[in-house]
Formats: sequence, structure tokens, C-alpha cells
Amino acid sequence: MTVRAVVKGVGHYLPERVVPNSEFENFLDTSDEWIRSRSGIERRHFAAEGQTTSDLGYEACKMALADAGMEADEIDGIVVATSTPDLTFPSVATMLQSKLGMTRGFGFDVQAVCAGFVYALTNANALILSGQCKTVLVVGAETFSRIMDWEDRATCVLFGDGAGALVMQAEVGNGDSDDRGILSADLNSDGRYKDMLYVDGGVSTSGESGKLRMQGNALFRQAVEKLTSTAHTALSKIGLTDDSVDWIVPHQANIRIIKGTAKKMGVPMERVIVTVQDHGNTSAASIPLALSVGVAEGRIKRGDLLVTEAIGGGLAWGSVVLRW
Ligand code: UT7
Repeated sequence: MTVRAVVKGVGHYLPERVVPNSEFENFLDTSDEWIRSRSGIERRHFAAEGQTTSDLGYEACKMALADAGMEADEIDGIVVATSTPDLTFPSVATMLQSKLGMTRGFGFDVQAVCAGFVYALTNANALILSGQCKTVLVVGAETFSRIMDWEDRATCVLFGDGAGALVMQAEVGNGDSDDRGILSADLNSDGRYKDMLYVDGGVSTSGESGKLRMQGNALFRQAVEKLTSTAHTALSKIGLTDDSVDWIVPHQANIRIIKGTAKKMGVPMERVIVTVQDHGNTSAASIPLALSVGVAEGRIKRGDLLVTEAIGGGLAWGSVVLRW
């Protein structure tokens, strides 16, 4: 008997305001053509004034719970991946508990920047496999628009706001790779690269939340190799190869990174879920957003083998292999 953490519901939320690339031409030396050709981004959503990360997460959770046909009081734990919490503390997860009316169980946040959702999913898997929880809500929610330097054209055109959520529940499988649910995971980080992507403020330094700084080109050079390698490690743990993959659901930072990784894995782009053109880079929210959109469009179906992979500040990177 093998316990698996199986997806029971999925949901997402994007703030109403859509910002096309052309809007940046009004106040920056940039162009729609540059942003599209270098990143693949065409538009992104920005949260309204006063709309917080937990507000976005709440909408995604409601949709995921409805999809699972569950009530909030059936959830044992909430794991939220975010680098843009409403407050320094308490956690966004506890804010979600209160918004959802969930008075039992527990919630906590995980901070691994753009790799956050992969880390959160891996944590949720461990909580379920250890018997600590039967059902876990896993959320990626971000308001990166709040940490942009609007004078830095190399970063502020790339990021967006949004949230996605999965309801994961324990189910008994056969112990082989035909099982539904999370089949394997691989997590990595290397703090030697901490200056490649960081925020220049924080509680114990400036006392302010700070603005995002990125050496885009240096990070770009790390991305494809590390993403391919982590996906291969996770697949090999369960004796699978690239040929078994139905869908790559990558972190949505740059279409050139997404294409480069798919090419290295020998997976055609028809089998990659791409949302970067519509969402921009939503950091920890990008994978659950892409999952939810992929399901809503009828592309990802029950029984499909998915590989999610992500890299971001830290550097931190990783992947999860799961059967939908
Ligand atoms: O989610 C976390 C992980 N993040 C990533 O993985 C991001 C990885 N990096 C990237 O996606 C890409 O490096 C970028 C999209 C950020 C940049 O693309 P690039 O092809 O690496 O461009 P670059 O940074 O080498 O810059 C090329 C040129 C520079 O001008 P010079 O020095 O060649 O004259 C930049 O100043 O493009 C210039 N530039 C811009 N021009 C117009 C930078 N930003 C802009 C802009 N509009 N918005």
C-alpha cells in the first residue's frame, strides 16, 4: 500500500486590471516589440490598490475547493508559497484560514521565490505521506507589482500579480508510476547566487520591503541547464524518461527559457503549457495558474503525466512529477 497526494481540485485568480506592454512605453524607454521578443510577455495583471496577496489567494482557494466539491473545514493544512505577503507576519496562510472560515488545522508560508510553488507542493506531499494531514490546500499567490522599481525597465516590465491553488488529498495507490498524484520531487538551492535576484530591503536590513533587483542575463544562463537537470532527476527517481511526459508545466518567466528547457528535454512545445504571454512572471503563482488554465482549456486531463519545474531567487530551483 502506497499513499499518494492526489490533486482533487484546482483554481486560480487574476486581478481585473490588465496591463498591456504598450502601457510601459508611456513612461519608460522600452517597446512592446522588445518585451515580446525578449520575454514572450504581451500583458500582465496588476492588483488593485488595497487588494492584497491573501485576497488573490482567497479567490483561487474558493475556486479550487468548489472544483474539489469540498468545504474549507475539510482541509487539514494550508501551505502558501509567496514572497510578497500582506504583512511581515502573520502568514498569508493564516489569513486565508480566517477568510475561508477554517478554524481547525494549520497554515504556514513557504518562501522560495519563483520556485516557491514546487517547494510548497513538496511540503504538502510530505505532510500527506507522513500521515500528518489527509487534505492540504497548496497555494501560490503574489503581488510582485508592489516590489517593482518603476524606473528599472529591465525588471518592471516582466512581472505580474495572481494566484493559483490545488487541493491535495491522500489516496492509496499501487506504488508504481501509473498511480495518480505526486510521484517524485527534487529540490535545490545554492546561496552563492543570491545576488542574481533579490529584493534590496527587508525587516532586519532597511526596515522597508524594498525593490526587486535582477541580473537577468546571468540568471538566464543558469536557468535552462538547472531546470532540465532537476526535471531529469525527478523523473529518474521513478524510472521515467522524457518520453513519458504528457505536459511540462513550467514556471513562466521567459518564453525563451521555456522553449530552451523543452528542447533540451526533447518535449515538443505542443506539450508545454504556456501562459507567460498573458500573465507575465507571477513568481510562485505561475505554476498553479498554468495548471488551472491548462485544465480549464481542456488540455491537461486526468491520468496525464506532468512535470513542473521552476527557478528563482536564491538561487532556488526544483521540480515535481505528478500524474493528474
Ligand atoms: O522568475 C525568476 C527567474 N527569472 C528569470 O529566469 C529571468 C531570466 N532572464 C530573462 O528572462 C532575460 O535575461 C531578460 C528578459 C530579463 C532580458 O533579456 P536579455 O536578452 O538577457 O537582455 P539583456 O539583459 O542582455 O539586455 C539586452 C539589452 C540591454 O541593452 P544593451 O546593454 O545591450 O545596450 C538592456 O539595457 O536590452 C536592454 N533592455 C531593454 N530595452 C528595452 C533591458 N530591458 C529593456 C526594456 N526595453 N524593457
